[in-house]
Amino acid sequence: MAAMAAKVLALLLVSWAEADIPEDETREAAAVQGLLTRLLGPRAAAWFSVSVQHSLAPVADTYRLTGGGGTLVQVTGSSGVAAAAGLYRYLRDFCGCQVAWSGAQLRLPEPLPAVPEELIEITPNWYRYYLNICTPSYSFVWWGWERWEREIDWMALNGINLVLAPVGQEAIWRRVYLTLGLNQTEIDEYFTGPAFLAWGRMGNLHTWGGPLPSSWDLKQSYLQYRILERMRSFGMKPVLPAFAGHIPKAFTRVFPQANVTNLGMWGHFSCNYSCSYLLAPEDPLFPVVGSLFLRELTKEFGTDHIYSADIFNEMDPPSSNPAYLAATTAAVYEAMVAVDVDAVWLFQGWLFQNHPDFWKPPQMKAVLEAVPRGRFLILDLFAESQPVYSRTNSFYGQPFIWCMLHNFGGNHGLFGVLDAVNRGPSTARLFPNSTIVGTGIVPEGINQNEVVYALMAELGWRKDPFPDLGAWVAGFAAQRYGTPHPQAEAAWRLLLRSVYNCSWENCTGHNHSPLVKRPSLHLDFSVWYNRSDVFEAWRLLLEAAPQLATSSAFRYDLLDVTRQVAQELVSLYYGELKTAFEAGSMPALLSAGGLLVFDLLPSLDELLGTDERFLLGGWLEQAREMAVSEAEAWHYEQNARYQLTLWGPTGNILDYANKQLAGLVAGYYAPRWKLFVEMLVKSLAEGTPFHQNQFENEAFLLGQAFVSGREKFPTQPQGDTVDLARKFFLKYYPKFQAGAV
Ligand SMILES: *[C@@H]1O[C@H](CO)[C@@H](O)[C@H](O)[C@H]1NC(C)=O
Ligand SMILES: *[C@@H]1O[C@H](CO)[C@@H](O)[C@H](O)[C@H]1NC(C)=O
Ligand SMILES: *[C@@H]1O[C@H](CO)[C@@H](O)[C@H](O)[C@H]1NC(C)=O
Ligand SMILES: *[C@@H]1O[C@H](CO)[C@@H](O)[C@H](O)[C@H]1NC(C)=O
Ligand SMILES: *[C@@H]1O[C@H](CO)[C@@H](O)[C@H](O)[C@H]1NC(C)=O
Ligand SMILES: *[C@@H]1O[C@H](CO)[C@@H](O)[C@H](O)[C@H]1NC(C)=O
Ligand SMILES: *[C@@H]1O[C@H](CO)[C@@H](O)[C@H](O)[C@H]1NC(C)=O
Repeated sequence: MAAMAAKVLALLLVSWAEADIPEDETREAAAVQGLLTRLLGPRAAAWFSVSVQHSLAPVADTYRLTGGGGTLVQVTGSSGVAAAAGLYRYLRDFCGCQVAWSGAQLRLPEPLPAVPEELIEITPNWYRYYLNICTPSYSFVWWGWERWEREIDWMALNGINLVLAPVGQEAIWRRVYLTLGLNQTEIDEYFTGPAFLAWGRMGNLHTWGGPLPSSWDLKQSYLQYRILERMRSFGMKPVLPAFAGHIPKAFTRVFPQANVTNLGMWGHFSCNYSCSYLLAPEDPLFPVVGSLFLRELTKEFGTDHIYSADIFNEMDPPSSNPAYLAATTAAVYEAMVAVDVDAVWLFQGWLFQNHPDFWKPPQMKAVLEAVPRGRFLILDLFAESQPVYSRTNSFYGQPFIWCMLHNFGGNHGLFGVLDAVNRGPSTARLFPNSTIVGTGIVPEGINQNEVVYALMAELGWRKDPFPDLGAWVAGFAAQRYGTPHPQAEAAWRLLLRSVYNCSWENCTGHNHSPLVKRPSLHLDFSVWYNRSDVFEAWRLLLEAAPQLATSSAFRYDLLDVTRQVAQELVSLYYGELKTAFEAGSMPALLSAGGLLVFDLLPSLDELLGTDERFLLGGWLEQAREMAVSEAEAWHYEQNARYQLTLWGPTGNILDYANKQLAGLVAGYYAPRWKLFVEMLVKSLAEGTPFHQNQFENEAFLLGQAFVSGREKFPTQPQGDTVDLARKFFLKYYPKFQAGAV
């Protein structure tokens, strides 16, 4: 590691010094043993021996593997997380297993394979970080403990040792605001609803989707206790939130003298929901609020001394004067160290990437140099596409984490920049005087494109890129399905060179398929890959189905690739529709429109309905289950419906968090396409122009009907994925073969 990185690491080590305690070693080993039992059951768990020795890691986390082949498999880690990573290395590379969001493939060979010679792995990354501020809202918001427990297990297996822990903070804020003299009504008017908390926390929004019931606070606090206890038992560091300066408007009623700045509108939300207030850094109340919050929070939840705070996320500061920016930054930091002298500030570098016109070198420098070196930990959030470290001399000397963002809004749609991900971290380490201290996985939403995350997680423990991604992806497929299979491997190699070989210029992390976008005559349906590769991968997977259909991951992938094909077919019909309308051809318009609305979209919905991992009903039911009354259940369900569709009351961030789920396709996207086709037909029949505005107004009403609809969607899968995928294939593959795509 470069000398500079060693120097900043020395500073970061301060907060790690307490780690060398034998009871902690025992506790961490027990946590991994517990994980092993959850994963494999007590019988197979007994074939392993797990221990933790903190002294094993002079620099960064290390694991050691020996045994197997008739003797116990011995896993030793420098921390619980390192031991769990060693365990997963063994399960994956020696036993051919896989643990993913969609499920686990854990068929073990018996006896367990031998580790031929002692295997020692030292990660080049001091930190392996996980989570975007948005992930807890887009993906985790309705989770109970059981699902959280699985996620923390996934984190441990992937060796993640630093993770955002924002759950339950509103309960503390409520207490702080009451102490400061705000009343209950004012606080209720301030918090967003559960599905929008991430943006409330960053000061982008208030009020929208609220209020937040007190039962929510109670349940989330309870959850946070369990989450933190489990994370810490593995030796992970949970990152708690700190005060970033945002305050409720009612604060100015209690403190009329307070010097506040209105940050202006965000995300097309009116000031009824945005235009948050920021307390001026020189206001004497700044340290009061900041310390009060952090003291209450750490009293409740303890601390690992790393805190997250984002002041200007997607909101331009009121002034670009470096002195102002430095003062604001320093105020946030001072309020942290006033409570915790060891505080390190974890900071999303997203703003620098998101608005480079504002954040020029003097502005970035002002922020980055306002905190002592080593007390800032910067997330280079979108480093696989637009790294910031390379144009800021490694954030002007502050330690940073190379993060892969990959996905916005948790959209479905196959895509990834695997080549750039593979090379990114090592390139960053080789950068002159690099201050990189780790790698991170920071999608806005999970449950999509698992191959991308499997690669990134492995890179967290590797010094060099994989020399051959084709070979890697072949191994990935074999682990996923529990056996190598020539057609499945060929399919994955095709996906690698097509959907997963994107360049950031035309693959921005959003799914722009017309399927999930509001129709218009000007949709862009170009893609960066050869569509034939996806169709061919689809054909190959179906060929593999007789052997692999018992694999749950295989059925997931077959469905996912069929879904991708459906997305391509929507583009195809859209193209035909548009051409027909422009040429004034009614028969062609009716044909393409009819096939799209009455055939393709219902078939897709039916197919998605065969898998519980693709059900709108599941998402809505989870939301309802968080409630303690019918009124609350309805409130949460609406939050859940809004987030996927209109996002805000007037479609403010329309379809940003789009998903392709059974129920959502038939209940939301299909009616909108039907309306579009009908209006095109009417316009052609009457010889009048098509009015996009009028369509959008009516489409908005459909959206409103969807978010306030009370119909129930299935929460159990129906039908067989392989059968329906084959039916879909017989119907649509000829269309592709005829050269239509
Ligand atoms: C909270 O304060 C506002 C402003 O003074 C007032 O209108 C409201 O009635 C108060 N609510 C409660 C519950 O005291
Ligand atoms: C803001 O809220 C007020 C009071 O509820 C309402 O009258 C007004 O129409 C809202 N404005 C916008 C732009 O939504
Ligand atoms: C209020 O805060 C702003 C921004 O920090 C500062 O420029 C201004 O001087 C402050 N005003 C007062 C009256 O202190
Ligand atoms: C790296 O740091 C050294 C020592 O501070 C300095 O002399 C050198 O110019 C730096 N190199 C680059 C490329 O910034
Ligand atoms: C991805 O595309 C680039 C050209 O854009 C090519 O050089 C590279 O080999 C491709 N990678 C894979 C894995 O197919
Ligand atoms: C993708 O981006 C590359 C590089 O900017 C460009 O040459 C290519 O035309 C783009 N492809 C599509 C389909 O937009
Ligand atoms: C796309 O792939 C198909 C089959 O692999 C091939 O025949 C075709 O020439 C490719 N098209 C382009 C534009 O590369």
